[in-house]
Amino acid sequence: MSTENQEGAQPISCIIPPAEVRGMKVLNRDAFSKDINVPYILVPVEKIKEALKFLKPCFLKMPNLQPVQDDGENKKILLHPDLFDEKLLYLQKGLSKLNLNGILWTSITLNYENWTADHILKAVLPLDSPGNVSSFSTVGHIIHINLKPDLMDFKHLIGQVLLDKNPNIKTVVNKAHIIENEFRNFNLELLAGEPKYEVLVKENNCQYAFDFSKVFWNPRLVHEHNEVVKRTRPGDLVYDVFAGVGPFAVPLAKKQCVVHANDLNPDSFKWLCHNAGLNKVSQNLHCYNLDGKEFIQTIVKKGLAEFWNSDADGHCVHILMNLPASALEFLESFNGLFAGEDLTNIGHMPIVYCYFFRRKDENVSDVLGKYFDDEAQKTLEITSVRLVAPNKMMMRVTYKIPKNFVS
Ligand SMILES: C[S@@+](CC[C@H](N)C(=O)[O-])C[C@H]1O[C@@H](n2cnc3c(N)ncnc32)[C@H](O)[C@@H]1O
Repeated sequence: MSTENQEGAQPISCIIPPAEVRGMKVLNRDAFSKDINVPYILVPVEKIKEALKFLKPCFLKMPNLQPVQDDGENKKILLHPDLFDEKLLYLQKGLSKLNLNGILWTSITLNYENWTADHILKAVLPLDSPGNVSSFSTVGHIIHINLKPDLMDFKHLIGQVLLDKNPNIKTVVNKAHIIENEFRNFNLELLAGEPKYEVLVKENNCQYAFDFSKVFWNPRLVHEHNEVVKRTRPGDLVYDVFAGVGPFAVPLAKKQCVVHANDLNPDSFKWLCHNAGLNKVSQNLHCYNLDGKEFIQTIVKKGLAEFWNSDADGHCVHILMNLPASALEFLESFNGLFAGEDLTNIGHMPIVYCYFFRRKDENVSDVLGKYFDDEAQKTLEITSVRLVAPNKMMMRVTYKIPKNFVS
């Protein structure tokens, strides 16, 4: 690189926080102050418009740092020190075309405000740590992370950095890796910010309010929710056995399906009802607080009988069962639901969407073999929904309930 002050040239690694912050456990923002040398160009004001066009890709872009600064008659343009090879040639070509002076060097001080969360955490956390915090989810004003055990000593620092660097965030929590409890909500540990867990989020053009510490919510299911909604038509009848706070039920009701949604968790039930009102779909969305088995054997049974006796006019019945850890076990609740009744003339059997987990080393037909015989397995549509852990996949089995299951 041709510079007027060759001594100032530094490799790319100068754009990282000071080495002394490595291993810091209590956040000391002052320790992130660092002087670095950066290249710059002086551009007379009359040439600034043209100069900016070709200089933009070379800017030093950092939070809270203006790369274009006033400097008397000129503008001072701060450039990234990582100007090698093609980028350097490109820069030199542009400078000579506009008849501008060459590259100069200046010292600037970078502070905590200028580093991104990624810069800071990479500089602080142990180099050999296999855990990382680069993947976190946001639910309303809450960031939730899933810290590996080796990073627990840094948990409050990590929480504070994420809080500082994400202006819309008020709360940072750590969640247990595996959700084992009945209601599928996380065990939350406050890392930074306010202990406020009531959020308002948007998904598929609907709004949801809920207490994130008490109910299940997973922003990664947005596509699956949408996928199932797409499979229905206005006027269809839907039973959502494990509805949570309504991410299937609310958009379905909005689509003019008649929805009966159930959840055993009293908090989910409370927010489900609330969200029906929030989205103005209470007329089409009926909420229940029952165990899934009881819901199937009472509400679904009664509704199906009425549907079959009515002029269904080509509509379908959909039964959603998103409780992947145990939904398959609930399928037996349909067995003999209409025992002894003549279903010969019944045209529309319900379509079931039942979710389950499959380990990488498991064969799908082995997992389902306990619930469907070989003949029934031929009629199943099997879909992968999402990878929930390196060796665990969330799956959906979709099928029309055979008449002999229920009679
Ligand atoms: C995985 S969440 C799915 C929530 C929602 N359908 C979604 O897609 O986000 C499963 C829900 O089932 C509820 N649940 C757990 N056991 C239940 C049971 N025996 N009967 C009814 N609901 C149950 C939980 O409270 C939770 O809200």
